[in-house]
Amino acid sequence: MTAETPAIRPPIAMLAELTHRCPLSCPYCSNPIELALQEREIDTETWKSVFRQAADLGVLQLHLSGGEPASRRDLEELVGAARDAGLYTNLITSGIGLSERRLKALDEAGLDHVQLSLQGTDAAMADEIGGYRGGFDRKMKVAGWIADIGFPLTLNAVLHRRNLHQLPRAIEMAVEMGARRIEVATVQFHGWALKNRDTLMPTREQAREADRIVTEARARLKGTLVIDYVPADYHSDYPKRCMGGWGTTGLNVAPDGKVLPCHAAESIPHLTFDNVRDTPLRDIWYEGSAFQAYRGTEWMSEPCKSCERKTVDFGGCRCQAMAIVGDASATDPVCIKSPHHGALVAQADAHAASVEARLVYRSAPGKPVVEPVD
Ligand code: SF4
Ligand code: FES
Repeated sequence: MTAETPAIRPPIAMLAELTHRCPLSCPYCSNPIELALQEREIDTETWKSVFRQAADLGVLQLHLSGGEPASRRDLEELVGAARDAGLYTNLITSGIGLSERRLKALDEAGLDHVQLSLQGTDAAMADEIGGYRGGFDRKMKVAGWIADIGFPLTLNAVLHRRNLHQLPRAIEMAVEMGARRIEVATVQFHGWALKNRDTLMPTREQAREADRIVTEARARLKGTLVIDYVPADYHSDYPKRCMGGWGTTGLNVAPDGKVLPCHAAESIPHLTFDNVRDTPLRDIWYEGSAFQAYRGTEWMSEPCKSCERKTVDFGGCRCQAMAIVGDASATDPVCIKSPHHGALVAQADAHAASVEARLVYRSAPGKPVVEPVD
């Protein structure tokens, strides 16, 4: 099979979801509702082969994620293999499951960068949102070891209605920890977060206040801390350019070896996904039907088809169009040109005004949904 089509560029980044297992149960988790069981996870040698194939394909950055990637006992070996393949390695972790000894071993294996998640800026908030008592204190210990070893650090704060008031403190903490970057990510409603819109949807005022805080902090901390910002998109006028454009810059490998154009792609029911167990990564990227489905602009209908922004945002997020409009080829309803935009705005305001709802925690693979913290 000749896999390469000249018009398609190679991917730059690959997200390797090593496992869906995780000690935390965050109610905004972007993992699919149907989590992959441990028995279905691909083994060490298959991951090593995937890393070599990714590097051959042109991937430069490897994001090791999950679930919690530290739940894999072979994490250190996988990092070493990725480095040997020539990939830049970034570990995306809650910190739970990492010890000082393991972090030193990861350093020896060649890990380049750590991205540490923050569920809240104090134990009460962080442990409630993560559904894990003692998680915050442990994370602070891990942050200390990360600094001692000297890993470049990005702090990743996921913000929503419950914790948006903690944004100024989250930014301060990033500076105190010596992080080079903070990702201020307002929750995106995929996976488990869709079940929690009544509890997590920020108000319009919170979204505006977050914009203001980020603008002010960016100016004040120029040269000290880079602030990446994902605003509350239900309250925006135009959608985000999701995944940099479908099948354009990145790909995800799920714990069971399925290769996805984005982390939520399995929510689009008519797509079928190739698996690294039986198809070379290069063929999947260039020819896989899921990657071809929404690549470029040919698949678009109006209003995107004749819109001047169609190569700016590529019509927004396919998974959000699927979740809200029921049609993955529709314009993302976040867009003011979408006929569904008005309904989305009303829905967002109704979710933001809801006061009764309780958090629905992500359940462990194969286990029922539980509420682990009172
Ligand atoms: Fe983007 Fe489509 Fe909206 Fe134009 S109509 S701004 S391409 S989502
Ligand atoms: Fe799938 Fe946006 S999350 S395209």
